[in-house]
Amino acid sequence: MGYFEQLSQKIEMKEAKIGVIGMGYVGLPLAAEMVKSGFTVCGIDLDEKKIDALKNGQSYINDITDEDLQASIDSGRFFPTSDYQVVEDLDAISICVPTPLSDNQDPDTSYITGVIDSMKPFMKKGMLVTLESTTYPGTTEELIWKEFSRMGYEAGRDIFLCYSPERVDPGNQSFNTQNMPKVMGGITEQCNEVGAKLYRNYIPNVVPVSSPKVAEMSKLLENTFRSINIAFVNEIAMMCERMDIDVWEVIDAAATKPFGFMKFQPGPGIGGHCIPLDPMYLSWKAKGYRFYSKFIDLAQSINNNMPDVVVSKTAQVLNVYGKSINSSNILILGMAYKPDISDLRESPGLYLYELYKESGANVDYYDPNAHSFIDDDEEVVQSIPYSREQLKKYDCMVLVTNHSDFNYDELADVGVPIVDTRNAFQHYDEEHIHKLGTASKVHKKHASIAL
Ligand SMILES: NC(=O)c1ccc[n+]([C@@H]2O[C@H](COP(=O)([O-])OP(=O)(O)OC[C@H]3O[C@@H](n4cnc5c(N)ncnc54)[C@H](O)[C@@H]3O)[C@@H](O)[C@H]2O)c1
Repeated sequence: MGYFEQLSQKIEMKEAKIGVIGMGYVGLPLAAEMVKSGFTVCGIDLDEKKIDALKNGQSYINDITDEDLQASIDSGRFFPTSDYQVVEDLDAISICVPTPLSDNQDPDTSYITGVIDSMKPFMKKGMLVTLESTTYPGTTEELIWKEFSRMGYEAGRDIFLCYSPERVDPGNQSFNTQNMPKVMGGITEQCNEVGAKLYRNYIPNVVPVSSPKVAEMSKLLENTFRSINIAFVNEIAMMCERMDIDVWEVIDAAATKPFGFMKFQPGPGIGGHCIPLDPMYLSWKAKGYRFYSKFIDLAQSINNNMPDVVVSKTAQVLNVYGKSINSSNILILGMAYKPDISDLRESPGLYLYELYKESGANVDYYDPNAHSFIDDDEEVVQSIPYSREQLKKYDCMVLVTNHSDFNYDELADVGVPIVDTRNAFQHYDEEHIHKLGTASKVHKKHASIAL
C-alpha cells in the first residue's frame, strides 16, 4: 500500500494524528473542531503562556469558551505543546501562524518559513501539510513546496501539500469554523483528495479548486473586495455629510434592493489581522508581475484616512460647544476593531487614541472586552472603570466600536456630546449625538450655500 492509501485509511479510521501549528484565533477553533470530530490533535505554539493556559483549560479566544476547551482536554485527545518534536508522531499538520506586514508594508512570511524550518527535522514520508495562513498567490509552491522538494519528497506520492484559506470571522454568531465552506487547493490531485478527505470530517462543505494559487488568490479576492467596498462607502459617507444627507438612511434604503447591492457600512477605519493587510499581500505580489492595482491603493488610502476624518469631525463637534480638541477630555468608547471581541490588532481606535493625544487632548478609553493596550510611547493604557458619574467629566465621547454590552441609553442620557462613527445611536435623536456620515452644523451651512 502506498502513502496515499495508508493516509486515506488512517483518516477514514480516525486514526490520523493531527497537529495544528499556531494556537490563535484561527488555530484554536480549528483544533477544537478536529478534536470534536474524533481525531487526536496536538496544538503547537511557541508562546508558552498560551500553552499553559490551554493545559489549564483557560481559553483566551472569545469563540472558544473554557467549557469547550475543557471538553477537548477531557476527551483525552487534545495535547497543547510548544515542542516541535511531536511532529514526528503526526500524520497531518495545519499551519495557522500570523502573516503580518513588515515595517515598510511588505508581506512578512517569516512565521511560515520559521514553521517549516522547525518541522523539517521531524517530518516523515506520508504526511499531509496544509497551510491556512492568509498569503499571496504562490506562497505554498514557492516557500513550502520548493523546500519539500529539496528534501527529496515527491508531491502526491510521499508527501501531500495543500493550501486552504481560513475564513473564520471571530465573534460571528452565524458562521464559525465548522459551517464555513472551506476552499482547498492541492499541489496535485492526490494532495487535494487526501486534504479534502481529512477536512470533511469537521467541515462538511469542502470546495476543491485546481491549485494552491487559486485558493490563495480566492482568499485575497474576498478580503480585497471587502476593503474596496468599505472604502467606497466611507467616501459616500463623507459625500453625504457634505450634502446634508444621512448616509445610514441611504444605505438602509439601498439595501432593500433584493439583488445587485451588498450592504457595507462606513466607520472609523478598518482593523483586525485581515482587511488592512491582505490587499497589501496581493498588490505586493502583483507588482512582481509589473501589475499595479489602483483599486487596492485607493481603498487603502481612503480607509487609512478615516481616523483623521473622525478627528476632524470631533473638532467640529467640540467647536459647536466652544471647545477645541486641545485640552479637552475625550473618551473613546470601544477599542477592539469590531463589536463583541477583544482583538485590538490594527484597530482604528488605537490610531485615533494617538491622533487625539497629538492634538493635545486628555484621552481615555472604555472597552468591556479589551482591557489594556500599549501605546506609541510604550505606556500601558488601561480601560477606565465604567460609571455614569465618571462619564460626566468628558467633553466628548467618541463611539468607535459598537459593543452590544454598552448601555446606550445611559451613554446618551449623560448629555456629553457624542461622535458616533457606527450609527450605534440610530434610535436616538438627541442634539448632542453627532453621527459620522451626517452633516455637522458647519457642513449644514455649506450645504445650504451650495443650494
Ligand atoms: N483572525 C482572523 O480573523 C483570521 C481570519 C481568517 C484568516 N486569518 C489568517 O490566519 C492566520 C493566523 O491568524 P490568527 O488571527 O490566528 O493569528 P494569531 O496571532 O491569533 O495566532 C497565531 C499563533 O501562532 C503562534 N506562532 C507564531 N509563530 C509560530 C511558530 N513558529 N510555531 C508555532 N506557533 C507560532 C503565535 O504564538 C500565535 O499564538 C493569519 O495568516 C491570518 O491572516 C485570520
